[in-house]
Amino acid sequence: MGLGAVIFDLDGVLTDTAEFHYQSWKTIADELRVPFDRAANEPLRGLSREESLARLLGPRADQFSSEQRVEIARRKNDEYLRRVEKMTPVDLAVGAAELLSELKRAGVPLAVASSSRNAHAVIDRLGIAALLDAIVDGNDAPRSKPDPQVFLQAAERLGVPPGECVVVEDASSGVAAAKAAGMRSVGIGPRGQVGEADHVFDALQELSLQMLLGAPARSQTRV
Ligand code: G6P
Ligand code: MG
Repeated sequence: MGLGAVIFDLDGVLTDTAEFHYQSWKTIADELRVPFDRAANEPLRGLSREESLARLLGPRADQFSSEQRVEIARRKNDEYLRRVEKMTPVDLAVGAAELLSELKRAGVPLAVASSSRNAHAVIDRLGIAALLDAIVDGNDAPRSKPDPQVFLQAAERLGVPPGECVVVEDASSGVAAAKAAGMRSVGIGPRGQVGEADHVFDALQELSLQMLLGAPARSQTRV
């Protein structure tokens, strides 16, 4: 396939901050005595902080004023940032440094497109900023996935048409956003989560430049 650029999601793809988001929401849910577990967390991947809180509270959302909801979201972010502050390059997903370097050496433009407003902090701690040609975060693109805004902004900044971009995602909402942007997608994770992607892999380390260059569009690479 023509490979004009690769656009990576951040949380859950290049690093396991999806686990930090879960742990932070779990602390808040326990405080509020709202039932919440890993299964309930899965559909929150890729959604903005505010949208995640609305889903977490469900029908209980009406019990909280908008000021209270802002305060809860702030507390969740404090929990999250406490975890991010301890991150180092060791927290890069297995194979991420090698893949980014391989693509960079081959001259493929690279971007991170994340719904997170903390993406720059995470990227700095991972030490990968120099490998990226563009970073688009939740501040730049306020409409969170599945809206295609964040991916379209990344393509524009790279100067590559959306149809030549490949998105790497771990979230159902992210795969939907890639499709809405007219981009091909590689899903990392269980089929229940990313089964709609054009190619699906268990882990990032299975991806390579050769796969991204050679795989026919919409093949089923995993059963
Ligand atoms: C990513 C994560 C979501 C998170 C969102 C907002 O998309 O997958 O779990 O809710 O970013 O993150 P933030 O750091 O701005 O709260
Ligand atoms: Mg993600």
